[in-house]
Amino acid sequence: TGKEVMSLPIRCDVVIIGAGAAGLLCALTAGQRGRHVVVLDHGKKPGRKILLSGGGRCNYTNMYAEAGNYLSENRHFCKSALSRFTQWDFQAMVDKHGIAWHEKTLGQLFCSSSASDVLDMLLAECDQPNIQIITKVDIGAVTEEQSEDSRFTISTSMGSILAESLVIATGGLSFPTMGSTDFGFRIAKQFGHTIVALRPALVPFTLCKEDMSRFVDLPGISTEVIAECNGASFREALLFTHKGLSGPAILQVSSYWQQGDAIILNWLPGLDVESWLQEQRLARPRASLATLLCEHLPKRLATVLAQWTGVQGEASQWRKESMQRIVKILTICRIFPNGTEGYKKAEVTIGGVNTNELSSKTMVSQKQAGLYFIGEVVDVTGWLGGFNFQWAWASGYCAGLYV
Ligand code: FDA
Repeated sequence: TGKEVMSLPIRCDVVIIGAGAAGLLCALTAGQRGRHVVVLDHGKKPGRKILLSGGGRCNYTNMYAEAGNYLSENRHFCKSALSRFTQWDFQAMVDKHGIAWHEKTLGQLFCSSSASDVLDMLLAECDQPNIQIITKVDIGAVTEEQSEDSRFTISTSMGSILAESLVIATGGLSFPTMGSTDFGFRIAKQFGHTIVALRPALVPFTLCKEDMSRFVDLPGISTEVIAECNGASFREALLFTHKGLSGPAILQVSSYWQQGDAIILNWLPGLDVESWLQEQRLARPRASLATLLCEHLPKRLATVLAQWTGVQGEASQWRKESMQRIVKILTICRIFPNGTEGYKKAEVTIGGVNTNELSSKTMVSQKQAGLYFIGEVVDVTGWLGGFNFQWAWASGYCAGLYV
């Protein structure tokens, strides 16, 4: 388990707060450079989100990861780190450790056995005499030091520790049950940083009563859609839940959604709906819309959408306006979520430490010498599909080279 110790050294070169994805990659990189590294985490175990991720199989990277897969006020910021530690660099580590893996879909690389393979790999890489991982430690104040070899004093429930470099790797606010706190944002503010507004992302939507009553029979049903919001569109599965909408397509667009926005759904992606309907009217003139839709959609959903159009009767009887209404509901169906399921269910937090105040090469603060921010605490948020871990690895690596 790396070097788990019960006592805190008086001083070290690098303190990393947060033994998650970014913190561990940073630790092993700095450790390989011979730095004396102490990783502190208030959780019982390191890497709890890694264990939980990807449904227990950890979608640890994506074959196609590049800057276009990330949201940030400065969309160029992540480029440098992503090119210095690529998905193939992480994959090389996975292969070195003989971990079985597979591509699930859309370039998403998963462990074939268990997410614990990735965590065990990181802990094995951290198993160096100069790296200590200390869990179950509460962090108090961080103060600036004026001495020659130490810039920070970090007060903890195990005493104080002096460090030359301090890395904040405490992640975002999502999934508070996994130990998320606002610690990183507080430290950033303390040292003069601004925080880009935070909100839950990769999160299911909730719907108003009226929409829920329309979808009341659908929880558990999944179907492929194109979901669009504010110019971003994703062709993946949508899942009806008891509270609203989820599934990969919905989680993806949730990152682009703000209160009051509509999401636009195409229920029949890849189909020229108008031509298909015209063909069907000739081929099956007596069929109802629900019957025709069953060819491409789950039966219950086909019934709901047919009802939604308000178009009744046999296909041969539909007039032009009815056809237009059907095509509209099936291909540009506007739904107005009334909210999201919040941080409790969000995979990530959008926003964070303003990237204009960090070096994109080293992740060091431009406000405070020796202070670094890596991973989700930074205003860089990836799409669903392994992109968030890739950012954690890449930013952790870059900081690890310089701390
Ligand atoms: P991370 O959250 O991993 O680590 C932060 C660490 O800091 C934690 O160990 C925490 O205990 C510690 N900490 C926080 N506050 C502290 C304090 N005050 N004092 C001490 N320690 C403190 N991404 C992906 O790419 N593929 C996937 O398959 C998934 N799946 C997934 C599933 C679920 C359910 C969630 C919630 C998230 C995902 N993600 C994901 C997102 C991914 O987990 C996330 O982006 C990374 O873990 C972020 O890594 P960090 O190291 O920045 O934070």
